[in-house]
Amino acid sequence: MRIALLGGTGDLGRGLALRFGFHTDHDVVVGSRDPDRAHEAADAYESTLHDHGRERKITGFENAMATDRADVVVLAVPPYHVADAVEAVSGTLDSDDVVVSPAAGMRRDESGAHAHPPSAGSVTALAADAAPDDVPVVGAFHGLAAGRLAALGADLGIDTLLVGDDERAKEVVSGIVEDVDGLRALDAGGLANAAEVESLTPLLLNVARHADGLHDPGVSFR
Ligand SMILES: NC(=O)c1ccc[n+]([C@@H]2O[C@H](COP(=O)([O-])OP(=O)(O)OC[C@H]3O[C@@H](n4cnc5c(N)ncnc54)[C@H](OP(=O)(O)O)[C@@H]3O)[C@@H](O)[C@H]2O)c1
Repeated sequence: MRIALLGGTGDLGRGLALRFGFHTDHDVVVGSRDPDRAHEAADAYESTLHDHGRERKITGFENAMATDRADVVVLAVPPYHVADAVEAVSGTLDSDDVVVSPAAGMRRDESGAHAHPPSAGSVTALAADAAPDDVPVVGAFHGLAAGRLAALGADLGIDTLLVGDDERAKEVVSGIVEDVDGLRALDAGGLANAAEVESLTPLLLNVARHADGLHDPGVSFR
């Protein structure tokens, strides 16, 4: 599989690039609005993987170039830019591709982070509205703290919930998730359930802020 990480220069993109690069043989492509930034990030991730004993080629391209020929396209961009990011690459998406939305709409106040979904109901639904009709969108990776992913020496032992209406697309995402040691994919139903899954992100941020010693919490369902 070829996995393109749009906004792969950011925190989540870095964590996912390192984990997919470390644990799997999938091709990892870092996307950015700026090709130079994409190349720099790809080189830095390659170097980190080398330091951990893994020789991998990570490539970096402008987002639309990164999407071209990718099988899975992860929208690792801020929630309120997800629709723009999809529209910018829609010409290079086709019906065999799977788009993954990890973003959660949030607002913050003095007490913490709160779920604040867009009018589409969820960011995953927003991404699905922006994507071409025949391209499936899956919500995933919401509960994965970027810092924990990037700490390659740390065991993960966490679950990620998948939502979407296309069963084949969910199987594809489940497959790449489970290729990462310590990550488990759990089906949380259709796209209509995405808001509940996205609300996990502010919950985890509040736990990270208030619970002693839990900087990058994750959830494992039993
Ligand atoms: N951080 C986490 O632990 C975490 C965990 C789970 C889910 N998430 C979700 O994953 C997404 C990315 O999170 P993050 O923390 O990695 O975000 P981030 O570091 O703030 O941003 C990621 C990347 O998005 C790109 N970007 C910024 N503004 C953009 C715009 N207007 N249009 C298109 N791209 C833009 C930038 O890449 P370029 O400038 O190189 O294009 C940036 O490096 C968010 O939606 C977040 O809710 C994050």
